[in-house]
Amino acid sequence: MLHGRHVLLIIGGGIAAYKALELIRRLRERGAKVTPVLTRAGEQFVTPLSVSTLAGVAVFRDLFDLTAEAEIGHIELSRAADLIVVVPATANLLARMANGLADDLATTLLLATDKRVLVAPAMNVRMWTHPATQRNVAQLAADGILFAGPDDGAMACGEFGPGRMAEPAAILAAIEGALGGGPLAGRHVIVTSGPTHEPVDPVRYIANRSSGAQGAALAAALRDLGARVSFVTGPATVPPPPGVDVTRVETAQQMRAAVMAALPADAAVMAAAVADWRVKAASAQKVKKGASGPPVLELAENPDILAEVAQMSGGRPALVVGFAAETEAVVDHARAKLARKRCDWIVANDVSPETGIMGGAENAVIIVTADGEESWPRLPKPEVARRLALRIAAALGG
Ligand code: C5P
Repeated sequence: MLHGRHVLLIIGGGIAAYKALELIRRLRERGAKVTPVLTRAGEQFVTPLSVSTLAGVAVFRDLFDLTAEAEIGHIELSRAADLIVVVPATANLLARMANGLADDLATTLLLATDKRVLVAPAMNVRMWTHPATQRNVAQLAADGILFAGPDDGAMACGEFGPGRMAEPAAILAAIEGALGGGPLAGRHVIVTSGPTHEPVDPVRYIANRSSGAQGAALAAALRDLGARVSFVTGPATVPPPPGVDVTRVETAQQMRAAVMAALPADAAVMAAAVADWRVKAASAQKVKKGASGPPVLELAENPDILAEVAQMSGGRPALVVGFAAETEAVVDHARAKLARKRCDWIVANDVSPETGIMGGAENAVIIVTADGEESWPRLPKPEVARRLALRIAAALGG
């Protein structure tokens, strides 16, 4: 519940602005006071009347609205709230925030505030992945700005990928997390993600098709519930979410070292597709074609990070979750893995090529625990992540 909490809600100019209306409704249902600010561009997507009707108060629109300035100055407006939320945060708004511009009411409030700021980015996939936006996002994260989303999925513009705004329920969870009310507030969770690259020589490596999408979504969902997340990622194609502590690694051995360094934790969620084997003696020089024919690669077994963490005698996280990507007998293999590694849950999925799950936008998982199995329907990866994060919070007593 958010009784007595005050949110200043800035609505930016993007098609996802309509979701801000739903968010206002949900915030008020939970007892929050909402002061809305609508940017000029935002007005192209939602009307001041719908915003003020849902918020139950007048909407602020213009920096030079003298009536408002006489009643409540912009400095005061920026500080009266407990949290400032920007929904949707467009590429342009993020760029202006990252550079400290104050050329309208919204950006002036954002520059003048002494309160925490949470943004829900929404934009076309190319705009989100553009180096300029990623630079701005990294700067904002370094400045302490909190992020909800974006999700990976279908967009209004017809394209597909990261940049889609988080759903109102997820933004609400992030708001609760930011206000200290999230079920994982004060908890530390380690998440591993992505593939590992095991070098053959300085230019070649053995890898797998993991995109890191599920791990990144999971880290974001845990963050949104208030957890401090240590995100240890191999060379994934999906970028790490903002607002988590990122350690980038290449090999399984590096991933193991990063996980051990991040302990202690309340929970460890191992979503990485760690290579089971590495090349025993990777060549220091590029291997050349020659008269002796193709080289024979001798493999050595990699450390099993999940098993090691699950079997720690002291300082074991209260909850250790593994993933099992299988192409046949999914539940049988998952159950065997649960017993062998001695983790608490295995999140199992079928990654046969025809499912399109590995590297795809959706996932269909079965949660295997000592108590039984729970099959979830095929869902977008952010939704699988959100449900898993809530299940983790419940298991930790949140
Ligand atoms: O044994 P398998 O690779 O199928 O187990 C998958 C689970 O174990 C995943 O959670 C994965 O992150 C973890 N794992 C690990 N270290 C390894 C191999 C797998 O942590 N070397």
